[in-house]
This record gives sequence, C-alpha cells and structure tokens, in this order.
Amino acid sequence: MSLLAVSNLSKRFGGLLAVDRMELRVEPGEIVGLIGPNGSGKSTTLSLIMGVARPDMGSIRFEEEEICGWPTHRIARRGIGLLFQHSHPLRRQSVLENIALALLPDSLCTMRLSAELERRARRLGERVGLGAVLAQRPDSLPFAHVRRMELAKAIAGDPRLLLLDEPFAGLTAAEARELSGVIRALRGEGRAVILVDHNVKGVRALVDRMVAIHVGRKIAEGSPDEVIADPQVREVFLGTGVLAESAQPTVPAPARGRAPLLEVKGLSVYYGKGRALDNVDLEVHEGEFVSVVGLNGAGKTTLFNALSGFLPYGGEIRWQGAPLNDAKPSAIARAGIIHCPETRELFGDMSVRENLDLAAYHTPASKAAERERWLLRLFPILARRERQAARTLSGGEQQMLAIARALMPHPKLLILDEPTLGLAPVVLEMLSEAMAALRRESGLTILLGEQNLTFALRHSQRLYLLENGRIAWHGEPGRFAEQAGARYL
Ligand SMILES: Nc1ncnc2c1ncn2[C@@H]1O[C@H](COP(=O)(O)OP(=O)(O)OP(=O)(O)O)[C@@H](O)[C@H]1O
Ligand SMILES: [Mg+2]
Repeated sequence: MSLLAVSNLSKRFGGLLAVDRMELRVEPGEIVGLIGPNGSGKSTTLSLIMGVARPDMGSIRFEEEEICGWPTHRIARRGIGLLFQHSHPLRRQSVLENIALALLPDSLCTMRLSAELERRARRLGERVGLGAVLAQRPDSLPFAHVRRMELAKAIAGDPRLLLLDEPFAGLTAAEARELSGVIRALRGEGRAVILVDHNVKGVRALVDRMVAIHVGRKIAEGSPDEVIADPQVREVFLGTGVLAESAQPTVPAPARGRAPLLEVKGLSVYYGKGRALDNVDLEVHEGEFVSVVGLNGAGKTTLFNALSGFLPYGGEIRWQGAPLNDAKPSAIARAGIIHCPETRELFGDMSVRENLDLAAYHTPASKAAERERWLLRLFPILARRERQAARTLSGGEQQMLAIARALMPHPKLLILDEPTLGLAPVVLEMLSEAMAALRRESGLTILLGEQNLTFALRHSQRLYLLENGRIAWHGEPGRFAEQAGARYL
C-alpha cells in the first residue's frame, strides 16, 4: 500500500492548466524528489495535496483514505505537513512563539505559552538548529534561519508525509549538508518526504526516487541518475552546461587605472549594539563584475542596503568620485545604482507589466518600451504572464520579474542580492548569458551577493569574501579555492 497515491489530479488558473492529470505515488519512509522548470506546477501540486488550493478534478489518497477536497487543518491532523516556498512569519512574535503557534490545536486561542507547549516548541527549534536564536524575532534572522523556522512549523504536527518546497534555497553548502542530515533523520523515523529543489546535483544523494514534471505533467520518473540522464528533462530543466562546468561567458576585462565607479572606505553598520559591518573596504570599477560571497548572516544584504541608502552607516561611500553619504534611496537610484533585493519586494497585487512599467518611471517612453520588449524576450515566461498579479507567480517567475524590473531603468551599477534563489538551471544559464551580453553591449557593471559559489566564481572578475561583517579575503576567482576555499567550505 502506498502512503500517498495521487491520480488524475488537475488544477486550472484561468486559461492556464497548472497541474494536468498528475500521477504521483509515495511509499512510506521514502524521499521523493520533485523537479521541473519554473512554473511547471510543483508548488501547486503540493498545495493541492495539502488542501491549500482546491483541485478541479482527481483523487488524492493518503493511507488508503480519499482526502481530496478536505480542508487544510484536517489534512494536517491526518498526517501531512507542508513547508511553503515562501515564508510569512509573524513579525512581532519571537521564533519560539512562531513555532509554538504551529503546535496549538486548530481552535482560536490567545498567544500565551504553557510550560509544556514552550518545551515542545523549544525542542523543535533545537532540532532544526535554531536553539540559539529562539528569543529573536524572525526579521532579525538571516533568510536561511527563517526557512528553518518554517521547517520546524511543518514538522510540528508530527506528520508521516512531509512536503518540502525548496528547503535548500539560499542555504550555504554547509547549511545544506546539515539540513540534509535533518531530513535523513526524519526519514529514519519512518516519515516520507516529497522534496522540491532546483539543485539536482545537491539533492541527488538524498532522494530515493525522482519525478520530473513539465507544464503540469509528469515527464520522467526513476532513480536520480535515470531522471537526470533523460533527454527531455535535460532539455526543459537542466539545459546543456549545468552538470559539466561550462566556461565563463567571455567579457573583456574593464580598463583599470581610472577612479573606481564605486568606492567604499571603512564602512561600518550597527544594529543596536551589534556590529553588522566592520570597516569594510571595497571598490568596483566601471564594467566590472564583482562578487561579495559569504555565509548567510555574514553581512552581504546589510552592505547592499547601506549602499542603496536604506541604512545609516559610518565610513565613506563614493560614487563616480563624489561622496554619496546621506543621499536618499531615490537619489541613489536616479544616480544609477539599482538594487535587486533578496526579498524581491514586488508589488503583489500589480501585474507583471505594471511592476515593469513602474520601474521605467524615469525612462523616456520609447526607450522603456524597447527595454521591456528586450526583457520579455529574455524571460519569455514573463511575457506569457504579463497580466498576472505578481503575488500569484511561481517562486522562480517572481525572481525573474525582480531581476527584469531592476534592469528596466538601465542601471549603471546593478546590485544583485542572491539572484540564483529558486531559479531552474536552464533559467540560470539564460541569465548568465544575458548578463554577459549586457556587459558586452552596454558596459553594465555588476555587484553580486551570493552564497552560491559556483555561480559567483564563474562570473566574477574579482571577489570579496565577507566573514562576520569583515572582508576576510579579496582577489581573483582563480585564486579563491587555494587561498580562501578552506575558510568558506
Ligand atoms: N493563483 C494563480 N493565478 C494564476 N496563475 C497561477 C496562480 N498560481 C500559480 N499560477 C501559475 O501556475 C504555474 C505553476 O505555478 P507553481 O507555483 O506551481 O510553479 P512551480 O513549479 O512551483 O515553479 P517554481 O519552481 O518557479 O516555484 C505558474 O506559471 C504560475 O504563474
Ligand atoms: Mg514553486
């Protein structure tokens, strides 16, 4: 008997068949990897199983019982837990309280913790490695920790089937190894897992079986190696160069010797008494591709927020030779520094086109239209979703929109904070090529923040390694492994 048997499951959004007669089985104690391009229906499938979205047709049997159409809370009580792709923590509550809330029975009650509840919440928090930060608010945590908190919530109901939507997104290699350990331990307790992830190489060793989907339908199934070798999977999901280390897109090195475009000297940022950035020196020359790599919480996002004028800081930031201190975010953006934040910050109720149009506010209409056409050719899936509300886009589609929006106003310096998050390998390749083309054609300068080293090493001409708010190393990518690799990996 299968633990979960999904058959003929379908879901339509307007003219789009997001899940199309899906067939899926999960055996007890098994980890099934679910892979597919951005927008292929992975998150929708999980939502249907969890009762978050209502299927148009099909059957979902859990331990032989038909649960299709049940409300979510009943499905949760029956033994299924879901880690959502997007985190929406309660911002005024501590991590401990957020976890405790998931432990409450599904009736309305006040947020007062009994000793027993607190003990259980604490244990869950420790289990996912958050023991040291349970009293903090989610806003003060790096992204990866918020995801772990969501994992603690997903396992709070003691589920026999766990649905994990991109739990590894944004994690460093070491954090991912740790989380793999947690997931293996959950399997060891007899739980089954459906795992959605774009990094097939990374999860290959973790999953027992893999299922690939494309436009809502299953296209391949089998061992991870079989599925990765499948020609259709390679075409729609992996692209060509992913598993082989493909060469760096060639862009001539910029002319040095002139004053840097951006110059940061002795930059320090404090959050209350805690020092997030300590005496950071960094420069970016015109036409360069520079990366700031570092673990989650090292200070990358803080650095970018200071550059964009969102945070008070000590030290000096110079732009095209002139001091930028005290400039407002709007003035900084108009000066040509455009920041694509890790959190995307899209206007959820506005359509794809409206989000792009807003970003072109200061651009002449004819130029904006040309730019928009170019961007929609670059991300054809966005063209097909032009009138869709940003909030309803898939994770990867939202990321593409955030990047496209940042490119819209023709930045001189593009700051990209973790752009690889949630993108399928083929899209990453497209993005790589597009950035190389932009740099060749328009001399775009890029400052990238990444914990995904492979991507950063492949593209940058220079790298800075940020460690606990300090620059621990900087140099060329070719020397990174030898001089700084040990500190990072
Ligand atoms: N409420 C909605 N209204 C309209 N379209 C929607 C809605 N929800 C999802 N979609 C569309 O359905 C398709 C499938 O979305 P889904 O979130 O399941 O993709 P996914 O496989 O999880 O992709 P990703 O890897 O990017 O997260 C997407 O193209 C998305 O734009
Ligand atoms: Mg998704």
